[in-house]
Amino acid sequence: MKQGRISQTALKVALGLITLSVKDDWSQRLPPDLVAITERLLLASGSPGYGPGLMRMSKQRWMIRVYQFQDRMMPGQWEGFGHRKVFMNQQVEAAIEQGARQVLVLGAGFDTLCLRLAPKYPEVRFVEIDHPSTSVAKARGIEKVGQPENMIQIAADLGERSLPKVLSEDGHWDASQRSVIVAEGLFQYLTDEEVRGLLTDAAACASPGSRIAFSHAIPGDRKLLSALVRLISEPWKSEVRSEDLPSYVDGTGWAMISDVDDDAEHGVERYGVAEWA
Ligand SMILES: C[S@@+](CC[C@H](N)C(=O)[O-])C[C@H]1O[C@@H](n2cnc3c(N)ncnc32)[C@H](O)[C@@H]1O
Repeated sequence: MKQGRISQTALKVALGLITLSVKDDWSQRLPPDLVAITERLLLASGSPGYGPGLMRMSKQRWMIRVYQFQDRMMPGQWEGFGHRKVFMNQQVEAAIEQGARQVLVLGAGFDTLCLRLAPKYPEVRFVEIDHPSTSVAKARGIEKVGQPENMIQIAADLGERSLPKVLSEDGHWDASQRSVIVAEGLFQYLTDEEVRGLLTDAAACASPGSRIAFSHAIPGDRKLLSALVRLISEPWKSEVRSEDLPSYVDGTGWAMISDVDDDAEHGVERYGVAEWA
């Protein structure tokens, strides 16, 4: 990712969700308030071009065709974002109902999970971490939307500072509490070694019963997607088959609890959930 620049892929996910909300019944399927909050975050982010005109254009029905064309070239990189958001929301709510008292979202981008769920679960602590340039842009939006008291935003480059160090320096995270961690649309930007390092670090910040829900790229021939992500300096660096996840996470402190994700609607990304082992 280019230093000092807001993550273009984080912006792309957020904008794609706005168009998705005018397709079919997606406005009902997406978690409540996701689109309204995303729009306010994007407008306040200060990202060049992300003004009211683009928001209006993104809700035009003809934009659906533009995204559908793109989705055919890069399966899962539009409608898949909707499936991803629904999956992560369900996993986090299920974990909270089963006793998790902390939520940590890694590489949060313009994701709204913490902003939406923090007021609903005041007894739970919500923490999100992102690269400083994106985190600072999102903070401008959070100022407008209103920061829940039980939500903390941390700006940190996890490539430079380890997760345990970032969390202990911030001081709000309690590693002894049961937690649920989310890494959505993040692993593919790290090498396999970095993914396993991050999983190991995440396990060091968690306790028995904690979970991590994540998405990951699967192997495949995707020349267009590779060219595009290289163009915006956010190349994909890792991939793993859903079937291989048990051995992939082995030794990191987590054990897979989700089934093999063979849902083609998720496209080039698949989802998994692991429990602290
Ligand atoms: C594709 S975006 C996904 C955003 C969000 N999770 C979502 O699904 O809407 C990837 C995110 O990972 C963040 N990221 C990438 N490398 C990072 C790093 N080394 N440290 C912290 N965040 C990072 C980017 O800033 C960006 O927000």
